[in-house]
Amino acid sequence: MNFLKNYIFLWLTIILVWTAASAEGFTPPGRFRQSSVLVGNRLYFFGSQNTAEQQNNIYLDVTLSMLNTTNPSWSMSISIPAVFQLASACVGGHNKNTIYLLDHFNTNTNNGDSNNTVVYAFDTLAATWSTPIISGPIPPSRQQFQAVNDTNGKIYMFGGVKYPNLVNEFNDIYILDTLILAWIQGSNVNAPTPRIDFTATLLNNGLILYIGGSTNGSPIYMSEIPTYNTNNNSWNTTIATGDTVNSRICHTAVLSPDGHIVIYGGSNLLGPINQSQNLAVLDTTVNPYQWSIKPITGSNVPPSLAYHSSDIVGNFMILAFGVKYANNSFNNLSNVNSNIYLLDTRSYTWVTSTSTLPNSPHPQNQTVPNSPHPQNPTVTQIQTVVSDSLSTGVIVAIPLVLIAVLAIAGFAGYWYYKIKKQNNIIRVAGSKFDESM
Ligand SMILES: *[C@@H]1O[C@H](CO)[C@@H](O)[C@H](O)[C@H]1NC(C)=O
Ligand SMILES: *[C@@H]1O[C@H](CO)[C@@H](O)[C@H](O)[C@H]1NC(C)=O
Ligand SMILES: *[C@@H]1O[C@H](CO)[C@@H](O)[C@H](O)[C@H]1NC(C)=O
Ligand SMILES: *[C@@H]1O[C@H](CO)[C@@H](O)[C@H](O)[C@H]1NC(C)=O
Ligand SMILES: *[C@@H]1O[C@H](CO)[C@@H](O)[C@H](O)[C@H]1NC(C)=O
Ligand SMILES: *[C@@H]1O[C@H](CO)[C@@H](O)[C@H](O)[C@H]1NC(C)=O
Ligand SMILES: *[C@@H]1O[C@H](CO)[C@@H](O)[C@H](O)[C@H]1NC(C)=O
Ligand SMILES: *[C@@H]1O[C@H](CO)[C@@H](O)[C@H](O)[C@H]1NC(C)=O
Ligand SMILES: *[C@@H]1O[C@H](CO)[C@@H](O)[C@H](O)[C@H]1NC(C)=O
Repeated sequence: MNFLKNYIFLWLTIILVWTAASAEGFTPPGRFRQSSVLVGNRLYFFGSQNTAEQQNNIYLDVTLSMLNTTNPSWSMSISIPAVFQLASACVGGHNKNTIYLLDHFNTNTNNGDSNNTVVYAFDTLAATWSTPIISGPIPPSRQQFQAVNDTNGKIYMFGGVKYPNLVNEFNDIYILDTLILAWIQGSNVNAPTPRIDFTATLLNNGLILYIGGSTNGSPIYMSEIPTYNTNNNSWNTTIATGDTVNSRICHTAVLSPDGHIVIYGGSNLLGPINQSQNLAVLDTTVNPYQWSIKPITGSNVPPSLAYHSSDIVGNFMILAFGVKYANNSFNNLSNVNSNIYLLDTRSYTWVTSTSTLPNSPHPQNQTVPNSPHPQNPTVTQIQTVVSDSLSTGVIVAIPLVLIAVLAIAGFAGYWYYKIKKQNNIIRVAGSKFDESM
């Protein structure tokens, strides 16, 4: 009967280990100064202020039918080959599934500062890193900027400041064409003042809007918005009307499917911005653009944060990580946020789940958000990737089915062995081997 005992023990162990590994998943520690980017249904986060996390590459499954703030599904991927913080990550490549980090470090320590921008490419399908050779004028390295990609493989990098001196702020714009792996210098005619800690948002008409930030220590008016026209590489500055939105740095901005830029949080250079101003929206469908401050409503409302990230998935803004203000700084490691928050951009309401009908018998209905623009590329992309990647259900089902099959096969084998043994036809493996010697 020892065989049976060992057999049962072995299976109990396998099932226990598997349950422990799959039940709770991976919960990343909080972080700030990271960069985030969406590829398919995975929202990737790179880097952190925390040295232990600076080479981190983690992702959140943002499949809308399953996403909620209480039990987000996190995974860890292959670490960045260098430390990363306060820099920028964008998507490009021929298949639109390669992430390009525009880094200013070339080693795994902060002493590895490079004078040139270092590009690390992460192939999200193969989960491999490379450092592509890029032709053209290599931009001076920088931090505290947000780069933005278009849908044709081009990444626009503007502003920022050289580390470690942090005195020479930039107002140049460089374009990384990821299809031909070349840097191209953009226009500097009518370029705005040098700046850091702003946001960059590309509209569907090809204009990039640079919102907020500071210029050599002075806040920038939120109504004064430099625009870079990617169609003909030209600068202009537009003046927005509407509510007076307090100046801020280290906030976030996303474009909703209905053409509104949603900003959240940040610092006013001295402390947190007035809490009543955390959430504001720029309507880009009207001329001139118009600001409106939105009341904070809903459940699971985020705290005041800076250095967080926000991304748009369907109609939902996903806010993650960042740091709370305390003890006169946005630097205190004891105040790091590890949660995610969800804003429904149709009503500017904070929600705990992206699924409007949590117990719907048709969860596939909620995979496609109720977008007023069904042709929205993000939505199409989510559908595509969901269908050609393993869903959580499949991931859970495969080991379960394997365990069941192995268990049945094992028991069948055991009973076969037991019956044969009773008939004295075979002997246990060890003695059989001895016999053949
Ligand atoms: C969040 O997801 C978990 C697991 O999928 C589920 O148990 C929980 O009820 C969900 N919560 C909400 C508010 O939807
Ligand atoms: C970067 O430039 C500075 C100033 O020109 C120089 O002192 C330093 O050695 C350079 N660093 C590297 C890694 O080339
Ligand atoms: C960045 O590129 C991805 C992949 O092409 C695309 O889905 C996304 O919409 C692009 N971002 C912007 C702001 O256009
Ligand atoms: C770029 O295009 C915009 C909008 O079509 C136009 O107003 C502007 O004059 C153009 N700029 C240049 C430099 O061609
Ligand atoms: C620049 O923007 C202003 C205000 O939006 C607009 O009136 C003007 O035509 C724009 N100029 C160019 C060259 O696009
Ligand atoms: C914050 O904003 C509210 C509403 O605009 C205003 O009443 C309040 O005085 C402001 N508080 C501070 C500290 O500026
Ligand atoms: C701020 O500092 C005080 C005094 O050192 C400390 O008691 C408090 O816990 C700190 N607050 C936070 C949120 O770290
Ligand atoms: C963070 O807060 C702790 C506890 O309040 C304090 O001792 C520490 O000096 C603070 N660190 C920074 C970087 O402000
Ligand atoms: C979901 O889709 C099914 C058909 O696929 C339809 O019968 C059902 O009414 C839909 N439910 C909702 C809530 O839209």
